[in-house]
Amino acid sequence: MLSNRSKLPKVGTTIFSVMSALANEYQAINLSQGFPNYSCNERLKNLVHEFIQKDYNQYAPMPGVLELRQALAQKIKKLYNTEIDIQEEITITAGGTQAIFTAINCSIKEGDEVIIFEPAYDCYAPAILLSGGIPKYIELEYPTYEINWKHVAKLINTRTKMIIINNPNNPATKILKREDLLMLEKLTSGTDIIILSDEVYEHLVYDKKTHESILKYPKLMERSFICYSFGKSYHVTGWKIGYCIAAAPLMREFRKAHQFNVFSVNTPIQYAIAAYMNESDDYLDLAKFYEEKRNYFLKGIGQSRFKPIACEGSYFQLLSYENISEEKDLDFAKRLTIENKIASIPLSSFYSKGTDHKVLRFCFAKTNDLLDKGLEILNKI
Ligand SMILES: Cc1ncc(COP(=O)(O)O)c(C=O)c1O
Repeated sequence: MLSNRSKLPKVGTTIFSVMSALANEYQAINLSQGFPNYSCNERLKNLVHEFIQKDYNQYAPMPGVLELRQALAQKIKKLYNTEIDIQEEITITAGGTQAIFTAINCSIKEGDEVIIFEPAYDCYAPAILLSGGIPKYIELEYPTYEINWKHVAKLINTRTKMIIINNPNNPATKILKREDLLMLEKLTSGTDIIILSDEVYEHLVYDKKTHESILKYPKLMERSFICYSFGKSYHVTGWKIGYCIAAAPLMREFRKAHQFNVFSVNTPIQYAIAAYMNESDDYLDLAKFYEEKRNYFLKGIGQSRFKPIACEGSYFQLLSYENISEEKDLDFAKRLTIENKIASIPLSSFYSKGTDHKVLRFCFAKTNDLLDKGLEILNKI
C-alpha cells in the first residue's frame, strides 16, 4: 500500500513551521524561528546584482566557484591556521542543511549507528533514517547541557559509524571546550567513526571565549565533515548557501552524492560572496554584535519570572518557565503565542523522547524594537 511506504513515518511538519504559522495566524511577535529581521550588507546585495548583470548565470563548477573556495581557504588559514586543499577538501552547498544531509547520506549504510546529542537540531535524525542508519541519542546534562563523555564511551561499539556534534549548539546555546574535543579525539582514535561537526554558528561565540573548531584538531579533521552556512554569517538565511570541508577521501564520497543531488549551487551568489570576502572580514564583528543583542535581551528579561539559562553561543536565549507554569512546554509555547502574542520554540521538540525541562527558546537576532515588544510581553507573564 502506498500509504504504508513512508520512510519517515514519525516525521511531521517541523516545529519551526508550526510555531511560525501560529505566530502569523495570531499576529504574535515571532521569536521562534532563527532568522534575522534586519537587512544584510548593502555592498553584498549590490555584488549579487552586479554578478547577475554581468551574466554569471549558468551552472557553477560542481565543487563550487573557485574564487569562493579560495576565499574560504584564506579565511580558514587566518582563523584556524589550517591549510585546506581547495581542489579536494571543500565543496559549496545549498546551505548547511544540504551539507549535513549529504555528509550523512554518503557515509551511513543500513544498520549503522549514529550518535546524536539531544536537544538536537532537527535535520540530523531524518537524514540518518533515510540512509537506513540508526540514531542513538544521548541527552546533554540539564541545565548545563554538557556532554557526558562516559555515556558516549558506553554507547560506542563496532556498529557506531558517526558521531554528530553541533558547536555552538542550537538549541542548547553551549559551546564545546578544548577538553571535549580531546575526549572526542581519544574515543574515536583507532576506530572508523566519522565525525560530523555542524559549525554553522562558528562566529557567534561570546564572553571572549573561542570557537573550538574541528579545523584546529588535525587528528579529528582526518575523520570529519565540517559544515557551515553563509546564511548565519551574512544575515542571509534565505539564500541557502553553505559549504562542507572534509579530508580528500571523505570529500570524494561527499561529491559522489552531491553531484547527483544538487550538482552545483547558485552561481552569482557564489561570486558575490567571494568578492565580498576579499573586501571585508566583517564576520569578525558578529560575536560583538550578537553578544550585545544577547545582553540586551537578558537585561530586559531580568525582572521577569522567567529564568535565563546561560547562552555561550548561537543567537538564541533559553528561558526556563518552571516558576510560572507546570504546563507542558508545547502547550505553554502555544498558549503564549495565542493569548500573549509571543512565539518561541519549546525545547521538548528537539528530543526524540519529548524530554520536557520547561524551557523555551527565543531568537534574539532581531531589531531592538522587536525585542522590546517581546520583552514587554514576557515581563507581564
Ligand atoms: C544548528 C544548525 N545547523 C544547520 C542549520 C542549517 O543551515 P542552513 O540554513 O544554511 O541550511 C541551522 C539553521 O538554523 C542550524 O541552526
